Amino acid sequence: MRKIAIIGAGRVGESTAHNLAKHELCREIVLIDIKEGVPQGTALDIQESAPIFDFDTQLRGSNSLDDVADAEMVIVTAGVPRKQGMSRSDVLETNVAVVNGVVDATVKHAPDALLLMVTNPVDILTYAAWRRTGWSRHRVFGMAGVLDSARMGSFVAMETGFSVKDISAMVLGGHGDTMVPMTRFTTINGIPIEHFLTREQIDRIVERTRQGGAEILALRKTGSAYDAPAAAIASMVDAISRNRKHILPAVAVLDGEYSLNDICMGVPVVFGEGGMERVIQLPLTAQEADEFRRSSEHVRADIERLKLL
Ligand code: LAC
Repeated sequence: MRKIAIIGAGRVGESTAHNLAKHELCREIVLIDIKEGVPQGTALDIQESAPIFDFDTQLRGSNSLDDVADAEMVIVTAGVPRKQGMSRSDVLETNVAVVNGVVDATVKHAPDALLLMVTNPVDILTYAAWRRTGWSRHRVFGMAGVLDSARMGSFVAMETGFSVKDISAMVLGGHGDTMVPMTRFTTINGIPIEHFLTREQIDRIVERTRQGGAEILALRKTGSAYDAPAAAIASMVDAISRNRKHILPAVAVLDGEYSLNDICMGVPVVFGEGGMERVIQLPLTAQEADEFRRSSEHVRADIERLKLL
């Protein structure tokens, strides 16, 4: 890719910029934030690591959304993070206003871009952004499942002691307490985790995955996660910019899949140069379908709240 714009120079935006640059996933990164000097300083700081990490991606900071101009991808991390004791839905009102401004600038200045949403509540804001752009669902999607699955995979590695390289985990549903860790599709070198873990251990991993974001927030107290989220974003950008046709769980607009319409939820999708190229429909057991439906009801309730704002 030639140019990627990252909106929000907070910890997620900064870490994302560094990951994309280090892996040379595009030629140019513009980091945009309203705080004067902050995106400029951050971009320069990362740029100065180029001789050490040996990348030639160019970074610059800006305080103007007009600088999304001609970006092939716009990554939206701007907004307020939740504080301890809050749910991701509690920041909806504040963040939807931020996201609307970003979407309008993107439609105007980067009309051919792909839009990758990260700001929470990510399912709802992906939906809001998709509706506001009027674009095809292939071009507007969100990051959550790669992060939640990475957390689950890490916990499986910690519990079993096996290499994380052998572990493939999958988490679907909304990015909240009702997310659906899919233990049936979580394997260690292709072997189902049930072979190595007791029901009790698996239940513990599922619960820790659901609370993964809150666990980091409780430890840091004033800041939520950013390293693993930014790594998750980079893996999605890698799949798209290298046209890998990689299957990753992500927030996608559903159009009849999983018996849902007009909603955004975490599902397995194929990423390639066209963005979210295809939703993969998995046959769910009765229990999985039930958990998925419960998760969708939470997302639906927030979408209804969004419509009243
Ligand atoms: C998390 C927040 C960023 O899961 O949603 O860490």
